[in-house]
Amino acid sequence: MSVVESEEEEIGMFSSRMDNIEQSGIRKIFGMADEKSIHLGIGEPDFNPPPHIAVALKEAVDAGYNKYSPVLGLPELREALVGRMRRFKKDVTVDNIMVTMGASSGLALSSMAFYEPGDEILLPDPGFVFYKPHSILYKAKPICYALRHEHNYIPQVDEINELVTKNTKAIITNSPSNPCGSTFPKDVVRGIIEIAQDNNMVVISDEVYDEIIYEGEHHSFLGDYENVVHLNSFSKTFAMTGWRIGYMVSSPDIIEHISRLQYYAIACPSTPLQRACLAGLQGPKDFIADMVSHFKHRRDVIVDRLNAIDGFSCLKPTGAFYVFPSYDFKIDDTDLTMHILKAGVVSTYGSAFGDRGKGHIRFSYANSVENIEKGMDIVRDAVSELERN
Ligand SMILES: Cc1ncc(COP(=O)(O)O)c(C=O)c1O
Repeated sequence: MSVVESEEEEIGMFSSRMDNIEQSGIRKIFGMADEKSIHLGIGEPDFNPPPHIAVALKEAVDAGYNKYSPVLGLPELREALVGRMRRFKKDVTVDNIMVTMGASSGLALSSMAFYEPGDEILLPDPGFVFYKPHSILYKAKPICYALRHEHNYIPQVDEINELVTKNTKAIITNSPSNPCGSTFPKDVVRGIIEIAQDNNMVVISDEVYDEIIYEGEHHSFLGDYENVVHLNSFSKTFAMTGWRIGYMVSSPDIIEHISRLQYYAIACPSTPLQRACLAGLQGPKDFIADMVSHFKHRRDVIVDRLNAIDGFSCLKPTGAFYVFPSYDFKIDDTDLTMHILKAGVVSTYGSAFGDRGKGHIRFSYANSVENIEKGMDIVRDAVSELERN
């Protein structure tokens, strides 16, 4: 062994930050699916972006929008986003907005900007798979607040208040929720904001499903409290998960700080794609309402189908495009997911979203009614042989 090799072994090639970072449960299962599987696993609309947006992308490339954009994003797109965000915060200006590479990069940069070793970060359990690894990366301590079946997966403000300590730096919120499909009522949003204000905490609010709501309206965390980082995205709204464009809305000071990180991480978001998203914001929006009405019908189908299978109990989600049924089969959630996968349906095991996800599995209903029906036939037959508790 050469000197260099032995030194490498001692020092370790990967940083200690990587020690507890594992592949996400969603991707693990996705990687095991075959072409014949029915996909109710990954959360992405099965639609295409509306034609006027695709045309605008081609036009942008042809017109020479192929260079770096400003780090904060194209001014014309930020301006158009001001119009969109005023429904949540009346005094928003372009200084409050940065375009990102999907909400994913906004989440990653926020954790980089705020988390320090020893900080406590409040996050939902079950919650989206990014939140915990982000806090672990920066040696901050994830502290979970519960989303429970008996509370319609809506957090309890008093419980959150009890989890706050002098080390609490931030709370992550996600409404509509992935994986639960719950939407937080106004008083819960207000209650969490009050806790954050009283304790000088940052609120990192992931609102990527804000347009995918079936009952009531969306209540944003964005408002008068300065230390809210609102993360949003075109991925779901315009059915363009592969395009990787999102945005962050926060105080000018936070935006200015995080834009410095954005430069060193990605330089800028893709320029032609930003032009195409601008066309999406300026053009007709009936596509979104149409997509949401399809999702609503599919939700009704999958909820009815699951509740008709002995052993599953499924709430009716009010937003996003996931159902998160609990079950009483004598099998853990990873094995149940594998069992269903072998039968031909991709889902995600509940514990991929946190300890409280045990005893649940997540199905995404961003698939045709025909596939959902076929998938539910397969699930029904596959679980019929399982023992119940
Ligand atoms: C809750 C939540 N936040 C963020 C993301 C990532 O969004 P984007 O495609 O904008 O990076 C997802 C994607 O599934 C999500 O479900």
